[in-house]
Amino acid sequence: MRPKVVMHTQISLDGCVRGFLETGVYYAVANRFNADMVLFGSETVYTAAEHYPPETEKAFTKPVNRPDDKRLMCIVPDSRGRLRNLHVFRDSEYCKDFIVLVSASTPKSYMEYLNERNYDFIVAGDDHVDYVKAFEVLYSKYNCRIIRTDSGGVLTNVLIERGLVDEISLVVSPCLVGTGEAHLFRSLFLLKRMPLELISCETVDKNYLFLIYKVLR
Ligand SMILES: NC(=O)c1ccc[n+]([C@@H]2O[C@H](COP(=O)([O-])OP(=O)(O)OC[C@H]3O[C@@H](n4cnc5c(N)ncnc54)[C@H](OP(=O)(O)O)[C@@H]3O)[C@@H](O)[C@H]2O)c1
Repeated sequence: MRPKVVMHTQISLDGCVRGFLETGVYYAVANRFNADMVLFGSETVYTAAEHYPPETEKAFTKPVNRPDDKRLMCIVPDSRGRLRNLHVFRDSEYCKDFIVLVSASTPKSYMEYLNERNYDFIVAGDDHVDYVKAFEVLYSKYNCRIIRTDSGGVLTNVLIERGLVDEISLVVSPCLVGTGEAHLFRSLFLLKRMPLELISCETVDKNYLFLIYKVLR
């Protein structure tokens, strides 16, 4: 068994994942999915802050788990062991803690980094993370039933290709961005057409479209 996965992405009308002025609508509607966890791509976390403060003692302490805590558990795959900035987001306004997804190819020094700071991690896959296995662990060990993504496209395209996305939610922003920014489906490789069913279409904040498609299998 695995959690339901909702891919949630903001795009410009011409399909870019960056270059908007405003991301408020994207985060406002994200709450509607009642997700237990949010899945970031490592590039998204890596580029989230240009500068970040050095670690303090708090970075080595696991946040206390309180049943009434409404903040989401954050998941991030990092098979290359690049992320050293997790302390910036851990135990913050929107993030309770991180579970890091790694693979057999992840440098041992990175596992030590995670262990020293008391991060939970799941080892799945040989090279990149095997998301089928990792999601099974999130379901059975962490009781996760709904995952929402927060990624620029590379990760969600991998998830679509593996048949792991159940709903595609798009916030279409009222702007054209042009060729300077990455497109959402730039790396999607499909052997055959994937049919979708529109399950919701709403205008938000006058100018934005909030679309939810169900992936038909
Ligand atoms: N518009 C939006 O809604 C939105 C939301 C979030 C972020 N963003 C923007 O999007 C940008 C980053 O997005 P991105 O698309 O470049 O990267 P990303 O999706 O954040 O990260 C790439 C992820 O894909 C994984 N991956 C790559 N190849 C894989 C493979 N073959 N098999 C399994 N996993 C694989 C990587 O795993 P490893 O780390 O294990 O290699 C990594 O975690 C940022 O600029 C951010 O600002 C936009």
